[in-house]
Amino acid sequence: MTETMPGLENRRVILAARPKGVPGPEHFAVEDGPVPVPGPGQVLVRTAFWSVDPAMRGWVNDVPNYIPPVEIGAVMRSFAVGRVVASRHPGFAEGEIVTGLFGWQRYALVEGATIDRKVVETDLPQSLALGLLGLNGVTAYLGLTRVGAPEPGQMVLVSTAAGAVGSAVGQIAKLLGCRTVGVAGGPEKTALCRDVFGYDAAIDYKAGGLDAALAAACPDGWNVYFDNTCGPVSDAALHRMATGARWIICGTAAVTDWDPWPDGPRVHRALLVKRARMEGFLVLDHKDAYADAIARLAGWVRDGRIVWREHILDGAEAARDAIGMLYRGENTGKLLVRVD
Ligand SMILES: NC(=O)c1ccc[n+]([C@@H]2O[C@H](COP(=O)([O-])OP(=O)(O)OC[C@H]3O[C@@H](n4cnc5c(N)ncnc54)[C@H](OP(=O)(O)O)[C@@H]3O)[C@@H](O)[C@H]2O)c1
Repeated sequence: MTETMPGLENRRVILAARPKGVPGPEHFAVEDGPVPVPGPGQVLVRTAFWSVDPAMRGWVNDVPNYIPPVEIGAVMRSFAVGRVVASRHPGFAEGEIVTGLFGWQRYALVEGATIDRKVVETDLPQSLALGLLGLNGVTAYLGLTRVGAPEPGQMVLVSTAAGAVGSAVGQIAKLLGCRTVGVAGGPEKTALCRDVFGYDAAIDYKAGGLDAALAAACPDGWNVYFDNTCGPVSDAALHRMATGARWIICGTAAVTDWDPWPDGPRVHRALLVKRARMEGFLVLDHKDAYADAIARLAGWVRDGRIVWREHILDGAEAARDAIGMLYRGENTGKLLVRVD
């Protein structure tokens, strides 16, 4: 019988049913269970914030992906940040702050070797380790610099421009000396893009007239497109490429149902004429560069040169509808569930 930690209860969110497309509250259940004692090599983490990421839609659907789907009855897979409360791994000590794929659960028992990193930026808010100093910031920085490689003065176009990844992309591009255009949904988000995230121009894709707005914002076309949406925004972007453009495929937020995958425009002729490159980017392929990216981003945070927004939900129950919120565009900034 597994030994359990006395007096502790593990509140967790499990996948209760398999969704087709975007999951809703009916696909998740909240339950309480015992907290196991760590065995050799294991670490027990008490989580403080759970991450909510668009990718989690893909993790619960039974469609081909880069990672197998979460099983029915299992704790929902997610990134989280928390404190080590017990450790039998020589690399981790009680009290250290760590991040990893701990799941939507209050206590995560993990193999020490699977922990992503120790959070050393203890002078900064812990939640940042899931956003600007976590998956989102690293995706923005590495996708932009490694695939987009923009040069100073070039035009960088960003979709989901007010979101966790997009807001970081826009600001990093400005720090690299680029001009930026952000595309986001609604007047509040476009105002945020201009006034807070420093975009040179922001376009509300829900207002209509996207082709004309893009033509006005990028009269000479875009050099780098950080594409988080696919769908109509990207269809419009196809016609505004500059010669030698780089198109980073980072996300497909506008496609809510992958089965079957919707048909779209034929891109080949546009890529040929503009000698352009389109490339898929998955941050998990770039672990070698995480530490450098986080150090650079943390430096910009400390210097006040980069800002962020968080949208915080409280408690496990709130997590059940959180992925849906992302696909309804209801989040302003990094979506998190606070459990501490
Ligand atoms: N490839 C990778 O390694 C990697 C890693 C991390 C994230 N990503 C991707 O990066 C993108 C942004 O992630 P995030 O965590 O920063 O989320 P986010 O942008 O903070 O939130 C998702 C946003 O998607 C937008 N959206 C939803 N439905 C849309 C639609 N039909 N058309 C256009 N936009 C729509 C909404 O913004 P509006 O209100 O502005 O529409 C919503 O706020 C996602 O596509 C995600 O999958 C990829």
